[in-house]
Amino acid sequence: MQAGFASDEIRENKALSGVSALPTAKNGRDGAPSPSDVQFVAGEGIGTQILRMKTVYINEVASFLPNDAVANDDMDRLLGNETAAKKRIRHIILSRNGIQSRHYAIDPATGAFNYTNAALTAEAVRRLPQAAGQPLECLCCGTSSPDQSLPGHALMVQGELKMGPCETASFSGICGSGMSALKYAFLNVASSQSATAVATGSELSSIMFRFADQWSEEANPDELERQPGSQFHSQFLRWMLSDGAGAVWMSGAPNKNGLSLRVDWVDQVSYAHELEPCMYMDAAKDDAGQLTGWRRMVCDDKSDPRGPACLRLQQDVKLLNRFIVEYAVDRALRTMAARRELDVSRIDWFLPHYSSEYFRKPLFERLKQAGYEIPENKWFTNLSEKGNTGAASMYIMLEELFHSGRLKPGQKLLCFVPESGRFAFFYMMLTVV
Ligand SMILES: CC(C)(COP(=O)(O)OP(=O)(O)OC[C@H]1O[C@@H](n2cnc3c(N)ncnc32)[C@H](O)[C@@H]1OP(=O)(O)O)[C@@H](O)C(=O)NCCC(=O)NCCS
Repeated sequence: MQAGFASDEIRENKALSGVSALPTAKNGRDGAPSPSDVQFVAGEGIGTQILRMKTVYINEVASFLPNDAVANDDMDRLLGNETAAKKRIRHIILSRNGIQSRHYAIDPATGAFNYTNAALTAEAVRRLPQAAGQPLECLCCGTSSPDQSLPGHALMVQGELKMGPCETASFSGICGSGMSALKYAFLNVASSQSATAVATGSELSSIMFRFADQWSEEANPDELERQPGSQFHSQFLRWMLSDGAGAVWMSGAPNKNGLSLRVDWVDQVSYAHELEPCMYMDAAKDDAGQLTGWRRMVCDDKSDPRGPACLRLQQDVKLLNRFIVEYAVDRALRTMAARRELDVSRIDWFLPHYSSEYFRKPLFERLKQAGYEIPENKWFTNLSEKGNTGAASMYIMLEELFHSGRLKPGQKLLCFVPESGRFAFFYMMLTVV
């Protein structure tokens, strides 16, 4: 099973006992669960359990972007360590990605980091009014830039919030990690494991560019000047990614006053079985497309010059450009559209998390060619002002749209998050109620 509510897995509640012959109920159009709760029977051995599958609502969305917005011309001053080769890459990337401003968790006066990733995430959660008035039951957090490998990010966020006890779930990965957190929270409420849940996506990308680059350059001085191509795969990301966090509050009931977003479905599909790693960190990639992790490398040869360099976040841009749009549309969307009986003419808002304006036109054209054209006046993005915040991006887009006054009951939002790590794609359908 790939996703939550596959229609043939939802059964009507005709009986509360462990009866196997419950009739199958079809989901509504576009795969939405029917508004009433559905129940199904699961579990054997320790006695049959009844799982109540509820309709789930996003009651509130919040975001937190640290410090003042940073314009393109101020990026070098905050990220530091500017060189002529970096300036060349900077010009290439900023001329293509369309980002005009972004935020860093760096105090502009002192140049010191003034938030951890856990602190950024906690700030977003504190901006959910429900978090002040109700106990936290379930906290799900996704990020690609946790403050440390262990313990998991959700535990650190809970520690920062000083709220609980509660269930926690931490998700790693890249942009998709925030969506995995959201999906876990959704399923947790849907299955009545928790009455309410908070999901977050966050990034502290700037720290990777400040320190991993510096360390690597100290180990290989002048490499970037001598061989500009050698570090392009990591250097270009410093002009792409920035910091921020977002959070949603979910429950099994819509808001009594004001709008909510009903979660109709959240689907993910990955193609890691047929494509090699594309975005990676703490590893080096060889010509055969294989990754060697940092620990293994240092175990085998402590003097391996790739050791410090592999601590940088890197992306194989050629691989990305070759496959990302094709797989997002012709593979992932086509599969989900068939499962969900998706009718794109009924979509009112399309929220694509594209990493760079570079992909906007190719994505539009590919959707059109595949028969899923979504007019550009239905697209919503805030990439140019709020930057590419990876796992936080979808939350930061949703927060702006949710509070914009532009949403109307009955409207449908199709949210799309591709992850280049090894080609995984999330699509989520929300309905304004
Ligand atoms: C990387 C990118 C800027 C390349 O631009 P492009 O228009 O596709 O390709 P081009 O071949 O015209 O290259 C543009 C410039 O980049 C340089 N370049 C591209 N790949 C390079 C590499 N591996 N090493 C060194 N320079 C490189 C080229 O030399 C060229 O420089 P020039 O303008 O001085 O001649 C572009 O493909 C891009 O932005 N892709 C999206 C990446 C992205 O969004 N990633 C997700 C981040 S989370």
